[in-house]
Amino acid sequence: MKIFVLTGAGISAESGISTFRDAGGLWEGHAIEEVATPEGFEANPGLVYQFYNLRRDQLFEVEPNAAHRALVELEKREGVELTLVTQNVDDLHERAGNREVIHMHGELRQAKCLVCGKSYRWSADLGAGDRCENCGGRMRPDIVWFGEMPYEMDLIESRLGEADLFIAVGTSGQVYPAAGYADMARRRGIPTIEFNLEPTDQSGRFSESICGKAGDTLPEWVREFEG
Ligand code: OAD
Repeated sequence: MKIFVLTGAGISAESGISTFRDAGGLWEGHAIEEVATPEGFEANPGLVYQFYNLRRDQLFEVEPNAAHRALVELEKREGVELTLVTQNVDDLHERAGNREVIHMHGELRQAKCLVCGKSYRWSADLGAGDRCENCGGRMRPDIVWFGEMPYEMDLIESRLGEADLFIAVGTSGQVYPAAGYADMARRRGIPTIEFNLEPTDQSGRFSESICGKAGDTLPEWVREFEG
């Protein structure tokens, strides 16, 4: 069975990483336009570098939780072919042990050249003085900001086009194109399941809504899943 899983900030909440929309539109005290748009970066690159440096540092203090581990279980299950697409920029799915993780909104542990676009693994702080080894250009966090095109769209849509089951975990379903995936799955007539703390505005798009902390509900669902 081909299972397509889309995760959002809610799956990392129990690891101690803040979600986006639960804090009144602010992300760790900043307006999204300040820290998650190309215009915000142009206006105040120092603030944006520092913001993502702090988020990157935080990765060293957090661990994958039971919901991340449940998706590793699911991937290992005989007969399951898992596509795991995350909107999260943390590395908790990889650290839990999932084999293939598609980061459609980029990764904190990557930096990208503003000139040639080459992307690098990046664990240290990033700043205005860092230069691309390829072309000498300035670097930026490899995060897909608002107004930019998410990564791997073709791959994601082709996997969605062949999935037998669609699962969304811990996402408010407010940011497109990810927010449209549940509808695409429904139009194909496959079952769609949402795991969230509470029914979201988007719950009508799902054939089943499982409420509670993903760290409780997802492991239980995976244990009972028979394919
Ligand atoms: P949001 O912060 O919008 O939504 C998080 C969702 O997780 C909410 O619906 C919560 O109810 C739910 N949630 C919180 N804790 C949970 C838990 N323990 N178990 C289950 N669900 C829980 O985050 P996303 O939907 O991921 O984009 O946001 C999408 C995108 O908007 C992000 O990738 C980011 C942001 O701006 C970029 O950075 C480009």
